[in-house]
Amino acid sequence: MDKFDIKKNYLIKVNEYQKHNKLYYENSSPILSDREFDDLKNEILKLEKKYNYLSNKLSPSNSTGYKPSKNFLKSKHRVQMLSLSNAFDEDDLVNFEKKIYNYLNEKIPLEYSVEPKIDGISASLTYKNGKLVSGTSRGDGNIGELITENLKTIFDIPNEIKNDNFPSDIDIRGEVFINKNDFNKLKDNFANPRNAASGSLRQKDPNETKKIPLKFIAYTFGFFEKNNFKNQSDFLRSLKNWGFITSKHNKVFKNINELIKFHNKFENERFHLEYDVDGLVYKINNLNLQKRLGFTSNAPRWAIAHKFSAENAYSEILNIDIQVGRTGALTPVAKVKPVNIGGVVVSNTSLHNEDEINRKDIRIGDTVKIERAGDVIPHVIEVDKKKRKKNSKKFIFPSKCPSCGSITEKEFNKITKKIDAVRRCTSDGYVCEKIAIEKIKHFISKDALNIDGLGKKVVEKFWELKLIRLPQDIFKLNYNKISNLEGWGKLSVSNLKNSINNSKEVFLEKFIYSIGIRHIGIENAKLIAAYSKSINNFLEFVKNNDFDHLSDIDGMGETQIKSLKNFFNNATNKNIIFELSKILNIKKKETDQNGKFKNKNFLFTGKLEDMSRAEAKSLVEKNSGSIVSSVNKKLDFLVVGEKPTSRKIDQAKELGIKVLKYTEWKKLLNKTG
Ligand code: IVH
Repeated sequence: MDKFDIKKNYLIKVNEYQKHNKLYYENSSPILSDREFDDLKNEILKLEKKYNYLSNKLSPSNSTGYKPSKNFLKSKHRVQMLSLSNAFDEDDLVNFEKKIYNYLNEKIPLEYSVEPKIDGISASLTYKNGKLVSGTSRGDGNIGELITENLKTIFDIPNEIKNDNFPSDIDIRGEVFINKNDFNKLKDNFANPRNAASGSLRQKDPNETKKIPLKFIAYTFGFFEKNNFKNQSDFLRSLKNWGFITSKHNKVFKNINELIKFHNKFENERFHLEYDVDGLVYKINNLNLQKRLGFTSNAPRWAIAHKFSAENAYSEILNIDIQVGRTGALTPVAKVKPVNIGGVVVSNTSLHNEDEINRKDIRIGDTVKIERAGDVIPHVIEVDKKKRKKNSKKFIFPSKCPSCGSITEKEFNKITKKIDAVRRCTSDGYVCEKIAIEKIKHFISKDALNIDGLGKKVVEKFWELKLIRLPQDIFKLNYNKISNLEGWGKLSVSNLKNSINNSKEVFLEKFIYSIGIRHIGIENAKLIAAYSKSINNFLEFVKNNDFDHLSDIDGMGETQIKSLKNFFNNATNKNIIFELSKILNIKKKETDQNGKFKNKNFLFTGKLEDMSRAEAKSLVEKNSGSIVSSVNKKLDFLVVGEKPTSRKIDQAKELGIKVLKYTEWKKLLNKTG
C-alpha cells in the first residue's frame, strides 16, 4: 500500500469509529460488541504508531466519549475526564509496569488500588461547601452535559454532606449503573445494563430518569482543592465515611502476580455480583506517584483496565427447561444467573440435547463456563466440578413430552447407523400444544408466508386467547376482539389485516415449505414445487398419499419421501392443506433461468443495511443465482454486511473466494447488461 492508500484506509477506520462512538455514547444503542469496538480503536492507534504522519482530530487518540447531546446545557470539566488503557493478558500488565518504571527511572516498590470496573457511565459531581451544585456526564472528556437534576434523582448521590472533613470544593467521580435484577425488568428495551443506565440518565425529563432505579458508586476525584490524601485507598475509605457508596470489592495488592490471581478469581465469580463488571481497574495507590506519572493524551499512565474475556464467563445454572420444537425435538435450555459476555447479557444457554447433558454431567446448581462467540448461540463448555454442591443430583431427562405427556423417543438413523442424540415427542403434531405453536410460528416466518406484524410473541398471545389453533385460523381472525386487546391500536390492527391479506399470494415452493414437514427445508420444497408444477398436482399427491415417484427428483431421498408420507398420513395435516389451498392463491414461480447470477453461489454474513436476509436471498434467486449455507469451494461470493462473522471472511479469503461488501453486491445487482 502506498501512502495515499494508507491514509485512505486510516480515515475510513476513523469515520467508522466515530459512527460507532455516536451509537455507543449518544444513542446508547451500540451495534458492535465491546470487544469489536475496542479492536477498531486499537487498529487506529496501531496505525498511528506505525505511520507518524497519520492523525485526525476524531481519532480515539484525541477524543474520549462523544460530543455532548444538544438536549442538555454543556459544562466544561475543571479537570478532564479521561478514559483508561486496556490490558487483556499478563504481557499487557508486565508492559504497563515496565513503562511506569521507565518513566519514574527508579525501582521503588509499587502498590495497586484494585477496583471493579463497573460497566455503567461515568459522572462528575461538584460539591461546594458540602452542597451538590452540579453534576455532569463525561461527554467528550473536556465538555460534558449538565445533568444535575437527573443525577439528583439517584438515591445513592447525597445532596448535602455535613461531615466536617469533607473538602470545601471537590468533584467526586464515579459510575452510574443499574443492577442486573432491575435490568431484567427492562431487558426488552436495552441490550445490556450499561445502555439502560445511559439511556435513562440522559432523559430530557428527570421524572423519566426517576422511573429507573439507577445506582452510583464513587471511585475518584476530578478537581480537588487541598488534596492531602496519601493513597487512593485512603481516599476510597473517606468517600465511604462521607456517605458515598464505594465498591466492597476494592483491594490493595503489591505485584502483578497478586493482580492476576485476584483477576482470575473475580472473573470466575463475577456472576454473583448484583451489577455488571467488565474488568478490574488497577491504579498506582500512591497519589504522589500518580501525579509524577501524569497522563498521555487520553489516559493516565498510572492506571489500566484489565478486561474480562469477551467470549466466555462463568455462571450458575438456576434451572433446566425442556423446550419442544416444531418437529417435536426436546431441547434442554439452561436458565443461568445473568452474566454479561462481551456486552450481551446471557441468561439462557443451549445444552443441545440429552446426550450432551449426560456427557458433560450438567446439573441444576452447577457453576459452568459459558461461551458466546460470534453468531453462535451461547453454550456450556464445561462444568466446574470443584464448585458442585454436595447434595447435587444428576439431571434426569424427561421420558414424556413436557407439553403433551406423549412418549418420547430417540430415532435410529439409518444413514449414520446410530441412535439419534435428539429425543422427540411422538405425538401427532397439532395434538401437542408446544409443537402446534411452533408450527404456526414457522408458517408465518420470513422464509415461509412472511406475515409482518404477526411475530412469534403475537402468535403466543393469540394462542393463549384461543384465537388460533391451526394455520388457517390466521385468515379467519376476529379483528374486533383484537382491537380490544391492550396495545392494539387501529393502525396496528389494520397493518396486521393488510399483511395477512398480502400473504395470501404465495409461491408453491414457499407454501410447501411453510407447512413445516420434517426434512423438507426450502431447497426440497423448491424441488417438489418444480416437479409438481401446480398446487392441484401437489394436492393430488397429498390426497392419494402418493409420494414414491418423487424419488425421481435429484436431491430427494428416502428420508424425505418417508417424512412426506408420514406427515400426510395424519388427517389434521391433510385437512390443513386442503383448507389453506381454498384460502390462498398458490402460484408457480416464474424464474429467469438466464439471470445475471446464473451458476453463481452466494452467502451473506452480517446485518444488511436496508433489506432482510430473506429479501436478499430472493433477489439472488430471481436472478438465477443460488444461496449456499456455508463457506465452501462451491461458493462464488461472500457478501459482507454489518457485524459479519469474521471466521467466514477468513475462510473465504483462504479459499480465494471473492468477498463483496453489501454495497458492492447491490451495485452488481442493479447493473444492467
Ligand atoms: S478511574 C483517569 N475507576 O471506566 C481514570 N474508572 O475507561 C478515570 N470505570 O470512564 C477512571 N469503574 O466510566 C475508574 N473504579 C473505576 C472505574 C472506572 C469503571 C469506568 C469509567 C471510565 C472508564 C474508563
